[in-house]
Amino acid sequence: MNWLVPAYPWIKVAHIFSVIAWMAGLFYLPRLFVYHAEAPPGSDQAATFKVMERRLLRGIMNPAMIATYIFGIGLAAVPGTVDWAAGWIWVKLLGVAALTGFHHLLARWRKDFAADRNRRGARFFRFVNEIPTLLLLLIIAMVVAKPF
Ligand code: HEM
Repeated sequence: MNWLVPAYPWIKVAHIFSVIAWMAGLFYLPRLFVYHAEAPPGSDQAATFKVMERRLLRGIMNPAMIATYIFGIGLAAVPGTVDWAAGWIWVKLLGVAALTGFHHLLARWRKDFAADRNRRGARFFRFVNEIPTLLLLLIIAMVVAKPF
């Protein structure tokens, strides 16, 4: 895979760009759910939130998540980038797995809102909004500081 070495900095540019787009959606969608949970079902406001949530998930978050994976795996394939005997990459990938699980939970909650069967309140979505923040902190600490 030595032919990938000269492309390493550009793959990292694409990786970080995709990460930022994905994280923007992971922060914004729960915030939309907070306001949507307070809007009367069937109202014009609720209908607007449904459109915003669907476009954010399908138009930005899904492609950004896939791109984050493609360029992340691309970086891992560059010889010398990852020492698989080190601990940081495994803790990072655990964090990425948790972030991906959270993405799928958001997709399931979006379907509940779209079908007017959401039963969770604004307080619940304010609380879960903190999850991507904590996971982002863990992932960045592992990949930048590589503490172990
Ligand atoms: C399957 C998913 C992922 C894989 C396989 C992956 C893999 C990698 C690899 C191998 C590097 C290069 C490390 C180096 O050059 O020292 C990297 C860099 C980076 N990754 Fe990921 N990553 C993934 C997802 C993510 C996610 C979800 C985030 C943030 C939420 C993230 C944030 C970063 C950052 C900020 C860098 C640049 C670090 C630096 O330049 O020091 N990655 N990633």
